Amino acid sequence: MSPQTLSFAHRFVPGTGAGRAPLLLLHGTGGDENDLLPLGQAVAPGAALLSPRGQVLEHGAPRFFRRLAEGVFDEADLHRRVDDLAAFVAEARRAYDLPAPVALGFSNGANIAAAMLFLKPEVLSGAALVRAMVPLAEPPAADLGGRRVLILSGAMDPIVPAANAATLARQFDGAGARVDHRVLPAGHGLGQGDLAALAEWFAG
Ligand code: MLT
Repeated sequence: MSPQTLSFAHRFVPGTGAGRAPLLLLHGTGGDENDLLPLGQAVAPGAALLSPRGQVLEHGAPRFFRRLAEGVFDEADLHRRVDDLAAFVAEARRAYDLPAPVALGFSNGANIAAAMLFLKPEVLSGAALVRAMVPLAEPPAADLGGRRVLILSGAMDPIVPAANAATLARQFDGAGARVDHRVLPAGHGLGQGDLAALAEWFAG
């Protein structure tokens, strides 16, 4: 399949640093495939960047899966969208000759990455999840086999309750991931503290 016919609109930036895992960049609600490219370049210099645009539109704002209200997810749609995104990653890996990527997701993008780790753990080699919340009320038993998962939460986040992010960290821990959960003095938006924590984690 040629890059032009992949199933998601996307941007791809080839890697320049040997040995760096590619990043799967997953934007937040209302973002697009351009949003997180500068972040990816800043926190993982030289890594290949694969950045799809979410295919759900909420009043014109792209997302990766439907929600019924803020923080209330349509889990049937989420399952379907995880399958679609997994198929895209497989296409892109063939088209661009890539190993399994590490996800870097923000908000809605972090939530679909979290769901993918539980539903299709083979797709991702790890994940950095910024302002993620529990995407699946009852995630299936998954073996994350020591995959690295970073969760960056905001202590003043009005969208993600602290207990919800803590539950997500526990779910990953229970599935055998190597979880690093940090609570930053921040709200829901991305800030300098996120950049520093991400750069440190990606360098590790
Ligand atoms: C979501 O997935 O709906 C997020 O948690 C919130 C957002 O994207 O605005």
